[in-house]
Amino acid sequence: MDPARFEHLEPEQGSAIYPMRLQKFLARAGIASRRGSENLMTAGRVKVNGVVVTELGSKVDPLSDVVEVDGLQVKWGAEAVSLILNKPAGFVTTMNDPQGRPCVAELVPTEDHPGLYPVGRLDRATRGLLLFTTDGELGHGLLHPSHHVHKTYLARVSGVPTDSDISALSNGIELDDGMTAPAEVALEETDGQTSLLRLTIHEGRYRQVRRMCGAIHHECLDLQRISFGPLTLENVNEGQWRYLTEKENEALQYAVGKQC
Ligand code: URA
Repeated sequence: MDPARFEHLEPEQGSAIYPMRLQKFLARAGIASRRGSENLMTAGRVKVNGVVVTELGSKVDPLSDVVEVDGLQVKWGAEAVSLILNKPAGFVTTMNDPQGRPCVAELVPTEDHPGLYPVGRLDRATRGLLLFTTDGELGHGLLHPSHHVHKTYLARVSGVPTDSDISALSNGIELDDGMTAPAEVALEETDGQTSLLRLTIHEGRYRQVRRMCGAIHHECLDLQRISFGPLTLENVNEGQWRYLTEKENEALQYAVGKQC
């Protein structure tokens, strides 16, 4: 496996970075829970490219390695399920937090869909649309920079950004990890003390929107993601989830270049 093939993925996208641990692959493919997948491995029931793999740290490339359980090939992305969570603030985007903090796994039906995982991340304090899927290929595609999936955020910031602040954000602004790509930015409203910005970006850098607001010296006080590619928060209240409609599933496949 050539690690250089995975270098384009950004750190924020850790939940989908490839190659991945074999037990994670099995869980995401919907075979069993992570623990159940480990048990399958240690029982010698899992083969990778024809070789039994019992070592729990082993990694696979989901797109090219052939994984079998009990002699049957595991299909990556088969019978996939995707859903939207309207994430409340205060939940960490992880399926298992060793520090025991509230995490998004508590808010989605992991029992029914063991391979479910979040596509990208929202900060603990950020609210709004978080997509989950069991389809690793789809999740991977949506995070790939070449697909330019747009995300729209509403940011409540301190003070009143000027026109030139808005232009700076729109044209690209210097952050400590380099210039941001051009974005769509608009001042939605202000009460003189705080203002609401609408920002549409297609990158996914660590705390990007908060850092963009900080770069124009307007602290981000509240952040909500209201859309992810073709998906919106329609029909899903904060703290709730819902399955994607057929139309939304098709639109997502289209976004990663697959026709249905
Ligand atoms: N930008 C941020 O600053 N935080 C998020 O959670 C998402 C985008």
